[in-house]
Amino acid sequence: MLPHILVFDSGVGGLSVVNELDQLLGHYHLTYLFDNACFPYGELAEDFLRKRVVELLIPLCKRILPDIVVIACNTASTIALPDLRSYLSVPVVGVVPAIKPAAMYSKNHVIGLLATPATVHRPYIQKLIEQFAKETQVLRIGSSKLVKLVERKLSGIPILNEQLQQIMSPWLNGQGLSPDVIVLGCTHFPLIKQQLVSVFPDNVQFIDSGAAIARRVGQLLKTAHLLADEVELEGERLAYFTEEGVHSQLLWTPFKDYRFKAIRLYSDCLCARLQDEPSIYVVETPAH
Ligand code: DGL
Repeated sequence: MLPHILVFDSGVGGLSVVNELDQLLGHYHLTYLFDNACFPYGELAEDFLRKRVVELLIPLCKRILPDIVVIACNTASTIALPDLRSYLSVPVVGVVPAIKPAAMYSKNHVIGLLATPATVHRPYIQKLIEQFAKETQVLRIGSSKLVKLVERKLSGIPILNEQLQQIMSPWLNGQGLSPDVIVLGCTHFPLIKQQLVSVFPDNVQFIDSGAAIARRVGQLLKTAHLLADEVELEGERLAYFTEEGVHSQLLWTPFKDYRFKAIRLYSDCLCARLQDEPSIYVVETPAH
């Protein structure tokens, strides 16, 4: 039997974690839930977000019975994990910005945290800095604009280098301090890492937490004897979104590249009887 992993994010950012899971685990069943109704999470109040994540994930977990839940969202992770863990009996893995390794790699002792506006201001970031980056200067850019640009890029609308340069201008304009290591503290950003690299000088390194999350998931599955050895089996992949809209057709675009079989409305998943679940936007899985 293949393990079943539920990945959650506000949008397509969790696909950067799926990339890492694919590299490490190979075959597994994947359910991906994204909350397009409340996107972007980086603009929401903590209390709202805590309730929202629990209200979405608990019913879905009851229905699909995953072996493990991955909150592939820095903005939601730290605030929602305690509640989720208290309700769910399966492991729940979250993500936090890779401040510790960044501080270790930095030669000039200046690192940059590129994340959502919510994440850069969260008290847990200050705690991470005090714990792991005391001697390091941590510069912060919180940008929902960049999160939205990544969503658009994965639907086929390119990001211009000028748009990136404008968002990154505090670290690019040569006045003041510039980081030599940049922490991608939002799961959306590794999806455009190559383009980010191209607008920064060669000596700047980028670091994210995706591979560490995948390793943690791998360990937990191993401990639970759930790692698949049936490599000839191809896992099923389904994505759920929370709100239907005029652009719903576009939502499918990024997921077809990740071998998803279909993308469906979350509420239909909860209401449907098993034998007649609706399948909307079902597209042939592309051959890989
Ligand atoms: N991908 C998310 C994160 O890691 C959320 C981005 C957003 O919706 O603002 O924080």
